[in-house]
Amino acid sequence: MKATLHINTQNIISPIDDRIYSSFIEHMGRTVYTGIYEPTHKSADEDGFRQDVADLIRPLNVSHIRYPGGNFLSGYDWKDGIGPKKDRPVRPDMAWSALEPNQIGTDEFLSYCEKLQISPMLGVNLGTGTPKDAVELLEYCNSSLPTYWARKRIENGRKEPYNVKLWCLGNEMDGPWQICAKTAAEYSRIACETAKLMKMLDPNIELVACGSSFREMPTFRTWEETVLRECYPYIDYLSLHQYYQDMEGDVMSFLSRDEDMADFIDEVAAICDRIKKEKDSDKDIKLSFDEWNVWYHFQKSGKSPEKWIVGRPIEEEEFDFADTLLVGGMLNTLINHSDIVKIACLAQLVNCIAPIMTEESGRSWTQTIYWPFLYTSKYGRGTALKIKADVPSYTCKVRKEASYLSSSAVLSEDGNTLSLFLINKNPQEEMELHLPGNKGKILSFVTIAGHSFDTVNTADSQPVVPREVTDKCLDDLKIPAASWNMIRIHLS
Ligand code: AHR
Repeated sequence: MKATLHINTQNIISPIDDRIYSSFIEHMGRTVYTGIYEPTHKSADEDGFRQDVADLIRPLNVSHIRYPGGNFLSGYDWKDGIGPKKDRPVRPDMAWSALEPNQIGTDEFLSYCEKLQISPMLGVNLGTGTPKDAVELLEYCNSSLPTYWARKRIENGRKEPYNVKLWCLGNEMDGPWQICAKTAAEYSRIACETAKLMKMLDPNIELVACGSSFREMPTFRTWEETVLRECYPYIDYLSLHQYYQDMEGDVMSFLSRDEDMADFIDEVAAICDRIKKEKDSDKDIKLSFDEWNVWYHFQKSGKSPEKWIVGRPIEEEEFDFADTLLVGGMLNTLINHSDIVKIACLAQLVNCIAPIMTEESGRSWTQTIYWPFLYTSKYGRGTALKIKADVPSYTCKVRKEASYLSSSAVLSEDGNTLSLFLINKNPQEEMELHLPGNKGKILSFVTIAGHSFDTVNTADSQPVVPREVTDKCLDDLKIPAASWNMIRIHLS
């Protein structure tokens, strides 16, 4: 198979917002308890955070971490999670049928972020919560006024405000599964009033309003329109969420889902454009794709762990090699939409649907999706370039014409290095690449290839890892059948 990629460094999509390389930590399953936090673990630091896990998080260069949920958010009272740990209540977490001991709360999470040099993206509860709870949380985190909640923060040991800039107005409020789910009109009212109140206290924050929970929701589109019409002056971003699945075992359809993600983004962007025109506004609402991943393996397994325990081991997705390719493809889609998508969170970071796994009191390891995220996050920074691609395509159950190649091109900030992220979805044939007009020296060529689609990484063995290609030359470029690749070129 042959593909020609026309790339011109003057043909720009947009500077890439670093926040598209964000992730998500929810009080869900073993993400927090026995995931990032396990005071009795041999690697735990003085605050109880596992350093073996922190050491796996750091190389991912995560920009922001969204917290504390997710569905959990809609039943969470942030006031349960502050002050002396011994006085904090244990609560039933209705979202995930688990016990929440509140040993990690706002202060612990924000300090953890500071240690990791990652920025927080906090959610306010618009399920059981009120605008007052939300603005009080903002006061607790960001205020230096001599007021009750700001003083509480100081009493609890934190003098300086945390200055959390990015906030989510609830989570998936259209979903019938959501605690205190809302109609579009109900959500718009509370989101709008909460946003107003929060920006009155701290005009420097940025707010993300909930879009639909996923593209196939029956209310998708009318939900977006209603929220935008009502909240336009007060919000900065609209959220998108999407997880892809291969329930039918049709891997070529599954691998085409990065194109579905692109269509989804285009559709929401068009709605934003339309409402902007309708309002005759100068302001652009950008997109926050704040939950995205592959998610179905655990559901397919039919496992239902014991309920009402702390750290209920749910949704411990075991990703395979096909997921490496699709996650790489979804990252390409985000880069190729960097003009409109300014924030994106891989959901989640540890144990639940995550690139990093842990055993309680034991080992930690990296899943197959860890690697495309690591490399794209590390080298996919700078300016996204348009690629005019002449690439073979295939037909599958979900698309008449799906491309065998997923690609993105990023020019480094100094303009000297071109990084290409390329996925050959064809399981049978390698792909010969032609890059007319691009001259330079290959700095590195990293590939993940040579596995059957169902290969997984486990605690005992991690076969799906990247390797450096040594015999590399721009005039004779080939990427293997079924492969994820990064090629970095020093331009001359
Ligand atoms: O990320 C797991 C869950 O998926 C989140 O809690 C929810 O927002 C979504 O449905």
